[in-house]
Amino acid sequence: MTGSNVRKAIFPVAGLGTRFLPATKAVPKELLTLVDRPLIQYAMDEARDAGIEQFIFVTSRGKTNLEDYFDAAPELEASLAERGKKRLLEAVRRTTLDAGQIASVRQHRPLGLGHAVWCARHLIGDEPFAVMLPDDVVASAKPCLKQMVEVHAETGGSVIAAMEVAPEQTESYGILDVMSSTGRVAPVRRIVEKPKPSEAPSNLAVIGRYILTPDIFDHLSAGTRGAGGEIQLTDAIAAEIDEGRNVFAYRFSGQRFDCGSKAGFLQATVAFALADPDLGAEFDDYLHAVIAMRKAAE
Ligand code: UTP
Repeated sequence: MTGSNVRKAIFPVAGLGTRFLPATKAVPKELLTLVDRPLIQYAMDEARDAGIEQFIFVTSRGKTNLEDYFDAAPELEASLAERGKKRLLEAVRRTTLDAGQIASVRQHRPLGLGHAVWCARHLIGDEPFAVMLPDDVVASAKPCLKQMVEVHAETGGSVIAAMEVAPEQTESYGILDVMSSTGRVAPVRRIVEKPKPSEAPSNLAVIGRYILTPDIFDHLSAGTRGAGGEIQLTDAIAAEIDEGRNVFAYRFSGQRFDCGSKAGFLQATVAFALADPDLGAEFDDYLHAVIAMRKAAE
């Protein structure tokens, strides 16, 4: 047992979110809402449940309302308290972080995920840290990042959340070549960004949850462009593996939704609506009625 001390998380949110245009012209993708919580809130709640104490956003122009979202709302809270709306008051209070718990840095140009993470280097210092992409929402009994923090406490090194994808989808992911293992954790031998199915070493894909060690910044500093001309986090992790550092893939327990795509976002909306205690039964009836109508029309 090496002990885990993952206190800081980076949330790279400086991307353009082009797949949701025109909405993302004015609303950051991370503020798009699954039922009643924006994507960023799911990520923050997961991080908090995993013991994260410092939340670092890598933002860009046009994302100030994302920072405002986590600010205190004294007038709103007072009004809800006055009207006895306890549940809503609690929900609003959960969005507020203590002063000093949140920090943000700007990524001036969207040069890639690796570059976004590098922008936060001065706020990380010399300790392991998490990276969470709010696009990836994971529904699980134990929060995905918490599972990973526990693995990191056992293994040390870097831990990457992984899941099997359809072989024809490898071009959308970082793909892992792992040493054989019986459990959920496997040492990574190689990592490749967005390989063609014919060149992919497996169909084990990286999703947007990482625990990394600060030496990754040495590799990111080189600013080497990779797939799509972007500075890729995957390439810096590959360089670490080449140096002999320990990197582990972790097949997390839970269901991941790719909320960076419209189809994934809609699937997550349905899943979270069905799971909602106030909404679930009514929404279930509605879905059944829709399916029955479609069948009758065939
Ligand atoms: P995506 O690849 O989903 O890009 O980034 P995007 O711009 O958000 O969305 P599309 O593809 O145009 O629709 C994955 C994550 O990395 C962040 C994004 O904000 C998102 O959380 N990112 C990406 C940055 O912060 N900076 C970058 O330069 C690139």
